Amino acid sequence: MTELSPAVAPGSAGAVDPEALRERAVASLVLARDRTTLLTSCVEEPDLTAQHSPLMSPLVWDLAHIGNQEEQWLLRAVAGQEAIRPEIDSLYDAFEHPRAERPKLPLLAPAEARAYAADVRARALDVLERAAFHGTRLTEAGFAFGMIAQHEQQHDETMLITHQLRTGPAALTAPDPHPVALFTGPAEVLVPGGPFTMGTSDEPWALDNERPAHRREVAPFFIDTTPVTNAAFQAFIEDGGYTNPRWWAPEGWAHIRTHDIGAPLFWRRDGKQWLRRRFGVTEVVPAHEPVVHVSWYEADAYARWAGRRLPTEAEWEKAARHDPAGDRSTRYPWGDADPGPEHANLGQRHLRPAPAGSYPAGESPLGVRQLIGDVWEWTASDFLPYPGFRAFPYKEYSEVFFGPEHKVLRGGSFAVDAVACRGTFRNWDYPIRRQIFSGFRTARSQEA
Ligand code: AVJ
Ligand code: FE
Repeated sequence: MTELSPAVAPGSAGAVDPEALRERAVASLVLARDRTTLLTSCVEEPDLTAQHSPLMSPLVWDLAHIGNQEEQWLLRAVAGQEAIRPEIDSLYDAFEHPRAERPKLPLLAPAEARAYAADVRARALDVLERAAFHGTRLTEAGFAFGMIAQHEQQHDETMLITHQLRTGPAALTAPDPHPVALFTGPAEVLVPGGPFTMGTSDEPWALDNERPAHRREVAPFFIDTTPVTNAAFQAFIEDGGYTNPRWWAPEGWAHIRTHDIGAPLFWRRDGKQWLRRRFGVTEVVPAHEPVVHVSWYEADAYARWAGRRLPTEAEWEKAARHDPAGDRSTRYPWGDADPGPEHANLGQRHLRPAPAGSYPAGESPLGVRQLIGDVWEWTASDFLPYPGFRAFPYKEYSEVFFGPEHKVLRGGSFAVDAVACRGTFRNWDYPIRRQIFSGFRTARSQEA
């Protein structure tokens, strides 16, 4: 990982060194493109243009869409340039064409898509070299550049999901996380009640849905020290968890019955043990790894079976950011420092979550581990705007998704880069979704 000088001193909104910001923006864009290049060059052309799942776009769509978003925001909106290829905008507009339809569109072929994205990038770096990081909200503290680096990293996670759905031999490899001793600390941690600051008004690259900072009252609650493991989830399966409607929200029960779901996605029973396919390789499900590829309904049912519940989004963020010593919300569980490899499993450095209890240096002041990285964590909460929310810079990033049909996920997975993951970052999806790198931890209210 590149060491970067802090562009913004934590807690000092506005104190920005433009050269450090420029360096950070360049590094973030370059890191994202390196990953995009790997994800779109490790398979042959037919695998780039094929649709590996109706839930996903062909990889070549993601590639040109990344370039098109960059063109729209950095070249047109920031620099006022003319469209390079105005006729392709609509092909790569996620709202005009649902994922299932994208393979039928006259998409740019792989070589053209690569050349287009590279052309946009060369021009964007020119714009960045001359950019002043103040004057407009879009360029303030380099926001647009940070937004575009985050957008590309989000699609790098999306493309990794496509790689996981793709069948056939492995195309990607990465070293496994360091093995750790079995975690023997307390199973849960008490988070004291009281108000805390949720969201942010001064994190320069925070997206619109993370804003503004506001006070939230949270009653005392217990939260799992680590994400729920495969072994714990297997106990739910072996106890008939998937065949007892008692544990399930009615819509969740209907969904698993209709779709014959009886285990996390990619799992298969082999006699007495569970196997799973992971990036083209079949392995025995590792007992101590956080469970991944479960829907909100599965997480919710497990929690009920365990006599617990999912944490609300506010509870999750309080556990992740509240420093009881100073009544202050930090950027991450470990403090304000940017994530390093000692803190969290991020950025596709590994292609799996690390065993429960990993990353002691990343724990919160109360001792909660792996809140950042490893697996996205389902929360009990619907995706809703914070009080004072204002859509920026476009309604289609967050606003059009607000409502009870989407549940919030927090904390990031092994598949997303640090630039698109922080204590305030909010992800969302439908409660039936499980192709995403989703897991969870549970909570319970402290009895009064
Ligand atoms: C925030 C992950 C739900 O992938 O749909 C990418 C991110 N927005 N391009 C998504 C996003 C526009 C978004 N999520
Ligand atoms: Fe996008």
